[in-house]
Amino acid sequence: MAKLTETTVYEKLVDHKKSLENVRIANLFDIDPERINNLSFEFNDILFDFSKNLISKQTLNLLLELANEQRLQERIEQMFSGEKINFTEKRAALHIALRNFENKPIKVDGWDVMPKVNSVLLKVRNFTEMIHNGFWRGFRGERITDIVHIGIGGSDLGPRLVCDALEPYRKPNINVHFVSNVDGRDIQKTLNVLNPYRTLFIIASKSFTTQETLINASTAKEWFLRNTNATDKDIAKHFVAISTNEEACQKFGIPPENMFHFWNWVGGRFSLWSAIGLVIALYLGFDNFQSLLEGAYLVDKHFSSEPFHRNIPIIMGLLSVWYNNFWNYHSQAIVPYDMQLRLFPDYLQQLIMESNGKRITRNGEVVEYSTSPIIWGKVGTDCQHSFFQLLHQGTEVVPIDFLAPMEPFHPFENHHKVLISNVIAQSEALMNGKSKEEVEEELSKGDIDPLDRIELLPHKIFPGNRPSTTIFYRRLTPKTLGSLLAFYEHRVFVEGILWDINSFDQWGVELGKQLAKKIHTQIETRQVDENANPSTRLLINYFLKQNKR
Ligand code: F6P
Repeated sequence: MAKLTETTVYEKLVDHKKSLENVRIANLFDIDPERINNLSFEFNDILFDFSKNLISKQTLNLLLELANEQRLQERIEQMFSGEKINFTEKRAALHIALRNFENKPIKVDGWDVMPKVNSVLLKVRNFTEMIHNGFWRGFRGERITDIVHIGIGGSDLGPRLVCDALEPYRKPNINVHFVSNVDGRDIQKTLNVLNPYRTLFIIASKSFTTQETLINASTAKEWFLRNTNATDKDIAKHFVAISTNEEACQKFGIPPENMFHFWNWVGGRFSLWSAIGLVIALYLGFDNFQSLLEGAYLVDKHFSSEPFHRNIPIIMGLLSVWYNNFWNYHSQAIVPYDMQLRLFPDYLQQLIMESNGKRITRNGEVVEYSTSPIIWGKVGTDCQHSFFQLLHQGTEVVPIDFLAPMEPFHPFENHHKVLISNVIAQSEALMNGKSKEEVEEELSKGDIDPLDRIELLPHKIFPGNRPSTTIFYRRLTPKTLGSLLAFYEHRVFVEGILWDINSFDQWGVELGKQLAKKIHTQIETRQVDENANPSTRLLINYFLKQNKR
């Protein structure tokens, strides 16, 4: 593997990009009548339409050459066989083992991980059943009706998204709540609506050292003890933990039998498939959790076996690099036309940016090209009335992923037809734009003063040629969602290989955490470090002046 810019195909791609600068995406359909067939793919109930992207057959061939030069096939095999591809932490990245439906042995340090994976999954199943059938009750004998999942980052975003997205499949009589932020309003608003005798807290933290999670967990424990007549031994009926750190869980007061393990070879942002997904099983039922895993497993099979030119996550990754590094389009919008997926942009922000927001290559050198795009987005049609102006006529070109279900969960057929018309219209409008001639023609028909027409003309032109991918799925089932998430996970992997970076560590989040601890000490002791930066001193002193407690 080499730096992207040092690959032999890099300059060919630079030249090829120049040759496409004046080409219109819409015309590429005329040049290549097979375009739509070659660039659209059906995967079970999901349709991927890549044809409205700024690529030709040759682009794809060159990008595939890049993938081969970066030894993508070999890297995929390494990931699937449990090699320690997260080399800065000397860990494997084995989220695929968590949905390994074939149960094929996968070894880390010579040990097959599957028996442990299966036994935790069984524990998740048993616990879920006990909660659902009322065998597991609160310490006073009441049934559990409310689950509070406390975690942050990868220990929160995935389960939160899945529970929200698949809410139509929820089990009756179980409510879920998610608390992540150390801002006390988050837990306060949650606790306010709960009956402690009927509440189960899940403390989800891979490390069990994350400040926000531990503070929220302690506040929850204090609240529980204060608002019930429980003693410490009763905590076991109301608190469980998911972690790799048994010692810290015990220190917190959660006994080992209330712990659900996972392992350091599961990255936080790839962990929803592990016991971190316990809340998913509790909310949707274990069968639906299994279907989610199955959907991801099917994509793992596709990713590891499908030829590159028909391999969906590979195409997604290649497109990302193509726009980011050759067109200088440095952000990407995720726009689901599906209220059920309203949290998808948040989830992908962590998945993509925490994975690939890196600047050092595998050889420890600084990259001189950009890596992860900035990921942002919101549900349509709401965002048509906020940032779509910029997408159509702004100076930044932003490639977009549109997502939409063919069957909604509501009965309002007229709403759904309008929704789908909008998503199709947007990709068409972004691609075609509106030329000067079209605007002139349009203006000539209106009752507009000729002078005003001239003034208005440039404002009404849409440059077009703005790329997008559309992903349609029949219905957002657990299986379909599992597949969608896995497609993006593998896209992230592909990008990382092409950029020659490690997608599985996250050193960049450490510095802020360390400094927060130091500042917290100064705030607690009210002793400001006189050697600190003047701005930092000003801010701490300003806070201390206002906060006398
Ligand atoms: O935000 C940094 C991070 O380390 C993420 O990678 C991780 O998902 C999150 O914190 C939570 O970590 P933990 O599960 O160890 O509490």
